[in-house]
Amino acid sequence: MSENGAVFIGTSNHGFAQQAQEEIRRLFGGAVKYQWLVPGEVFLARLEEASWEETVRVVTESEPVFLRHLHPVNGQEAWNGSLESLVEALREKLVRHSAIAAGGERVAVQVRKTEHAAPGVSPSSVKHGLDEVLTVKPGIVPVVREAEWIISLFLTEDLIYWGISRPSDNLSDWPGGAVRYRKEEGQVSRAKFKLLEAEQTFGLDFTQYRAALDVGAAPGGWTSLLLERGLDVTAIDPAKLDPGVLKHPKLTYYQKNAGDVKLKPDSFDLLVCDMSWSPRQMVKLIQGLLYSLKPGGTAIITLKLMHGKALQSLREATEDFEPQLSLQKAKQLFHNREELTLFLVKNG
Ligand SMILES: C[S@@+](CC[C@H](N)C(=O)[O-])C[C@H]1O[C@@H](n2cnc3c(N)ncnc32)[C@H](O)[C@@H]1O
Repeated sequence: MSENGAVFIGTSNHGFAQQAQEEIRRLFGGAVKYQWLVPGEVFLARLEEASWEETVRVVTESEPVFLRHLHPVNGQEAWNGSLESLVEALREKLVRHSAIAAGGERVAVQVRKTEHAAPGVSPSSVKHGLDEVLTVKPGIVPVVREAEWIISLFLTEDLIYWGISRPSDNLSDWPGGAVRYRKEEGQVSRAKFKLLEAEQTFGLDFTQYRAALDVGAAPGGWTSLLLERGLDVTAIDPAKLDPGVLKHPKLTYYQKNAGDVKLKPDSFDLLVCDMSWSPRQMVKLIQGLLYSLKPGGTAIITLKLMHGKALQSLREATEDFEPQLSLQKAKQLFHNREELTLFLVKNG
C-alpha cells in the first residue's frame, strides 16, 4: 500500500461486484481503478487520493449495500503454489509488521483463493503454517473469531495479496464477509440464516420485541427463529408450515393468501416478509398490512432484485414505502441471493 493511496480487495455476493464498485466510485469520484480477481465477486481496487485509513472511514460511514467486505493490500508476493513458498514469502513481512512485532495480540489468519490457485494447499493448512510463524512473537495468540488483528490473504496462481487490519475496518470480521452459521438438527429451512444475519447486521435484538407478523412464512425458518426469541408469531402463508413449528404454543397460523387475512390494528411491533415476489407487488401487499404494525414498529423485508436493475429496485421500493415506512438500512447479506434485505421503521 503506498503512502498516498490505498490498495484493497473488495468482495460482494456473486454477480453484484459492479454495484459494489459503483458504491465506491460514488464515494471517491472517478479516481479508482479496478482489476478482477474473481469476476463478478472479488476485485482489487486502487485509490490514488485516499489513504487506507481515509478509505475505511468513508466506506464504513456510507454503510454500503453491496460491498460486503474489504481488506487492505499491504503487499503482493510471488509464489509457486506450495505452502513452503508461501511461508517463506510472508515470514519476515508479517513478523516485522507493527501489528505483530509488539506481540500480545489475538490474530486471525483468513485465507481465500481463486478457483485455480494451488489446488493442493487448503486455507486451513495456510492458516496453520502462518500461525506457527506468528507465535515466535511472545503473546501472539492465533484465533479464528474475536481477533484484534486480521491477516487477510488472497491467493491467485502466482501471487499472494496480503494485508493486516482491524476487524472493524473490514465491514465484516468473517473471511470475505462470508458469514457461516452451523445448521441445527431439524432446522426448518436455510432461509432462517437470512433473518439471523439480518438481526446481527442491523444490530437488532429480537428478544426485545413482543409480537411478530411473518408474511410468506412457509416452511417456517423465520417463524421458528422468532418463536425461539420468545415472540408471539402470526404466520401467513397458503403453503404448509413445518409440523415442528405448527405445534408451538405462541404461533397463530393463517393458511391463506396474505391479502385475504384480517388482522387487529396496531397489534405487532415487528413485521417480517421473505416473499420472492416482484418488488412492486410485494410493496403493495405489505402496504395493505401495515395497519397492523404499531407506529415505531420494525419491518425486515427481503427485496427481490430485478435483473440488472439492483440499484433501481432499491430506490423504487424505498420511494414506494414512503411515507409509511422509513428505510433505516439496506444490505445485501451473505445469505441473500438475487435479493437484498431492508430494515425499515413505521412512521408515527
Ligand atoms: C421464500 S419462501 C419463505 C421462506 C421462509 N422465510 C422460511 O424461513 O422458511 C416464500 C413464501 O411466500 C409465500 N407466498 C407467496 N405468495 C404469498 C401470499 N400472497 N401470501 C402469503 N404468502 C405468500 C410462498 O408460499 C412461500 O412459502
